[in-house]
Amino acid sequence: MAIDYQERIPNNVDLAENRTLQRALEHWQPRFLDWWRGMGPSDFLAADVYLRTATSVDAKGWASYGTVKMPDYRWGIFLADAVPDRRIGFGDEHGKPAWQLVPGEHRSTLRRLIVTQGDTEPASVEQQRLLGHSCPSLYDLRNLFQINVEEGRHLWAMVYLLHAYFGRDGREEAEELLSRHSGDADKPRILATFNEPISDWLSLFMFTYFTDRDGKFQLKSFAESGFDPLARTCQFMLTEEAHHMFVGDTGIARVVRRTLEVMKERGGDDPAAVRRAGAIDLPTMQKYLNFWFSSSLDLFGAEISSNAATYFAAGIKGRPDEANFADHLCSEGAMALEMPDGKGGTPPEQVPLRNAMNEATRTAYVRDCEIGVKRWNRLIAKAGHAFELTLPSPRFRRGIGAWAGQPVDPAGTLIPAAEWQAKLPGWLPSEGDRAFIKSLMQRVIEPGKMAAWIAPPDRGINNLPLDYEYVHLH
Ligand SMILES: [Fe+2]
Ligand SMILES: [Fe+2]
Repeated sequence: MAIDYQERIPNNVDLAENRTLQRALEHWQPRFLDWWRGMGPSDFLAADVYLRTATSVDAKGWASYGTVKMPDYRWGIFLADAVPDRRIGFGDEHGKPAWQLVPGEHRSTLRRLIVTQGDTEPASVEQQRLLGHSCPSLYDLRNLFQINVEEGRHLWAMVYLLHAYFGRDGREEAEELLSRHSGDADKPRILATFNEPISDWLSLFMFTYFTDRDGKFQLKSFAESGFDPLARTCQFMLTEEAHHMFVGDTGIARVVRRTLEVMKERGGDDPAAVRRAGAIDLPTMQKYLNFWFSSSLDLFGAEISSNAATYFAAGIKGRPDEANFADHLCSEGAMALEMPDGKGGTPPEQVPLRNAMNEATRTAYVRDCEIGVKRWNRLIAKAGHAFELTLPSPRFRRGIGAWAGQPVDPAGTLIPAAEWQAKLPGWLPSEGDRAFIKSLMQRVIEPGKMAAWIAPPDRGINNLPLDYEYVHLH
């Protein structure tokens, strides 16, 4: 169905046909805008930004580009096209018709899952709200704002589901989504990673590479859901999400490239010399990577999870790309997971497949993360350096699951607790590292110019030249 942009709330869900729902959402809209003005990108309300806006839900040619002030962005409700006679693809309900309404017995579970997903979207906008002041270029500033408006739209996507399918409870939850705030002492966001401050652009690139990628895998799991409106919503969100990960992937690659240039100019890889030249040394990048990767791993939940088993059995949440698996029931069989026994050993435990769903998804995520790391390492190797960026073991610095709080080094080895205590700070960005990175964050807003710590991208946005004025500041 085509997107109706004549409506106050652009949509392809026939909103005009459901007056009650339309009124409820029109009531929420000004609250969202208040939230955007108060908690969105600080001080850029009047800037003209070259942004893309969804115009259809086709994978090809789905967006148009134009200059818009962010508060005027046309946030809307877009679902992927319905699959006729769609069936549930996994679990005990396998082969039964997908649900067009919420089954009563799954109501509270689905609501909680939608709220948790929805909560991350505005949270990330809040985390990133001050970054515009220290952008390394107008190109990057525009990308930040593109991500921000789309996370705002993802909030709309979840709020639509809450309003349309969960009655009064859903409307209350939609209000709460605007009243929790990232890092707030009294009303924080639901998930820990989304309360971590993102106060520099290296962190932003790590966040969009690692944490948005967690989002990708959550959305892929929900795109399999037996609750059809959720599946269709998430499917379209994935189209937008790809750009966020692109920003992280290419952002980190550009930082690496710039660092390699400096190393070449200086004739060596001494981190102190790299820093003196105003670039980011590779060991510091590794520490930021350790921080954001390990933090993002926790978002998949515990290795052994009865909740995950229930979601799968009930047809609520599947595995990413469920169609690629041969067995959609997973009622038999087990996954061998090594677990710490508290005595320094890691005996394998046979975990029933359904209870190991989080681990299956986390494993797919780690594989996806490795692709970019390999690409960055190729740049380093080509420049003739032996250094390699590496993903730490998924056991490292975990806060959730069997490995939570375990004294594990980045290679995944259990080490004596005292040694771990002593070494952990060295594996993560120190106060000094953060202060150094912060010192580099000087804003560059001359079209086409880049900050000294990052190389230019390969190309501009939507075939425009790199020195296009992607953000016009007044
Ligand atoms: Fe999102
Ligand atoms: Fe995202």
